[in-house]
Amino acid sequence: MKRTLLIISSCILLSGCSEMDALVKKIPILKDKINSESRPQQQDNQATGTKDPGEPASQTNDGPVLEAAYFNEIAVEGGRKEIQNPDNFLVLVNKEFSLPVEYRPDDMVKPDIPFSFGEQDLEKSLIREEAARAIEAMFRQAKEENIEIYAVSGFRSYDRQNDLFDAEVRKVGVDSATQAVALPGQSEHQTGLTMDIAAKSTDLNLTEEFGETIEGKWLAANAHKFGFILRYPKGKESITQYQYEPWHFRYVGVEAATTMYENNWTLEEFFQQVKKI
Ligand code: DAL
Ligand code: ZN
Repeated sequence: MKRTLLIISSCILLSGCSEMDALVKKIPILKDKINSESRPQQQDNQATGTKDPGEPASQTNDGPVLEAAYFNEIAVEGGRKEIQNPDNFLVLVNKEFSLPVEYRPDDMVKPDIPFSFGEQDLEKSLIREEAARAIEAMFRQAKEENIEIYAVSGFRSYDRQNDLFDAEVRKVGVDSATQAVALPGQSEHQTGLTMDIAAKSTDLNLTEEFGETIEGKWLAANAHKFGFILRYPKGKESITQYQYEPWHFRYVGVEAATTMYENNWTLEEFFQQVKKI
């Protein structure tokens, strides 16, 4: 796959980290667009949370740019916007854009990390290989820093998501269910690029309190270094259309994750900001 992602500055953050060097080889190739005529500018829009002025962070005069292949290709099927390139590592899956019913990535593996359900061989332990290598590196680094985390749920098929959604509707009603659980076809778990993560400090539960634990805070502060984003942040519910989920991490690669982290962008905001080339 052609993997040229033109987002600036991550090399600065990544230099000197051998774990990261290994990872970088497997993710889209970085091109540093900073030059003397296009130093970073502070953005006008405070909502995007840009960094200090003058810091060599994330923006050229032109802003970040991205190859067209990383944008959703959409076909409208019965009023449903269906993604035609679901293998794209930056695929945007949400209440607007759905995955094909039968989509199932063909490169999924079980990462070598601890799971909340122990050694059981369950489909939800799977994620795509590139994301698996990245999450293994993240868990190794966490362990080195005495952060004990557990993977809870990775891949979910369309049918499995359908069952989960129906169960949630029975439990809390349709309005609350749609804030918490995606409709089948609209879950990132079907991409094989997502993992829910928990800690014993919250009894391995997927709960908002996880965001206040040292483990949840560590993940929120460090996941981007390994290519993951906290997909449903607090305060961005009106953009993501989902409640705050401090446990749900989505792999997008180090460059894109770092850009989103530095700018406090959700994946939706990222695609509003990047220019297609
Ligand atoms: N909880 C997230 C939104 C999902 O069901 O995919
Ligand atoms: Zn999740």
